Amino acid sequence: MTTRASGAPELLMVCAFHLKNGTKLAVQCSKRFETMGPVLKIENLCVEYPSQGIGHGTKLALQGLNLEVRQGEIFGFLGPNGAGKTTTMNVLLGFVNPTAGAAYIFGVDVREPIARQRIGYLPELTYYYKFLSAEEILRFYGKIFQIPRSEMETRLDSVLKLVELEEARRRPIRTYSKGMQQRVGLAQALINNPDLLVLDEPTSGLDPIGRMKVRQLIQRLKDEGKTVFFSSHELGEVETVCDRVAILNQGELKAEGRVDDLVRQYQCTSLEQVFLKIIDYRAAA
Ligand SMILES: Nc1ncnc2c1ncn2[C@@H]1O[C@H](COP(=O)(O)OP(=O)(O)OP(=O)(O)O)[C@@H](O)[C@H]1O
Ligand SMILES: [Mg+2]
Repeated sequence: MTTRASGAPELLMVCAFHLKNGTKLAVQCSKRFETMGPVLKIENLCVEYPSQGIGHGTKLALQGLNLEVRQGEIFGFLGPNGAGKTTTMNVLLGFVNPTAGAAYIFGVDVREPIARQRIGYLPELTYYYKFLSAEEILRFYGKIFQIPRSEMETRLDSVLKLVELEEARRRPIRTYSKGMQQRVGLAQALINNPDLLVLDEPTSGLDPIGRMKVRQLIQRLKDEGKTVFFSSHELGEVETVCDRVAILNQGELKAEGRVDDLVRQYQCTSLEQVFLKIIDYRAAA
């Protein structure tokens, strides 16, 4: 099977995907998958991107990734730039087809559109029409998820409060700061009250207070019984918030486990040290 590159803005692809599959979702909207197994299971996942032109070979972005995330966990997905984190998430969201292997969400193969019914997703880069307000964007997503009108207002108020955009809710996005735009993305990821959050660098571009608030939000979601799978380069905050982490390098899983276990196993004093050791980084003398 060939891999489809995710060139178009991912958020718009989410819309297109949900609209295209609207009928199917409508039929199965009330169906909830209860699994005793892991919330997220990735089995021997390989992704090979086609050559980007003459003189360029194909790119093996994921090489046999195996991973399990359990119910209620906060799971940190780490790795240097180009390690394959976004590619993995793109497979989970159906934007990229695996070359080999499979992934399951709540026991359902991610190739089935219904597998994504219970996911909230924050892409690495958010693209919104700048003339729309946060409220308009969220209403649009609410429609895609077929949230009943009677619930919509309460849901809107609650997510806008959660991400602290109540004051700015009717202003066009073009008047928002970068951090505020990131929070619109988070609100959008939460609008369908998902059981699994897939967040690609949720704290990227946020100031220290914004990052702390996202950490608190992630913790709060965990307290509500939700599962959070997120990528980050902020190892200090990952250390404080995650139950388990995985470290990926060049498409291969290099380590996985609880932060304190990894710190002990690699005889380090911090997750950052473990990370640098695993990717075999040596500072220039
Ligand atoms: N659409 C694509 N076509 C070809 N190669 C791609 C494509 N998307 C990603 N890649 C390549 O696949 C590899 C993994 O990229 P990916 O975006 O998954 O990394 P990442 O871990 O998310 O990195 P970052 O931390 O910079 O976000 C990189 O070498 C990247 O250049
Ligand atoms: Mg990425």
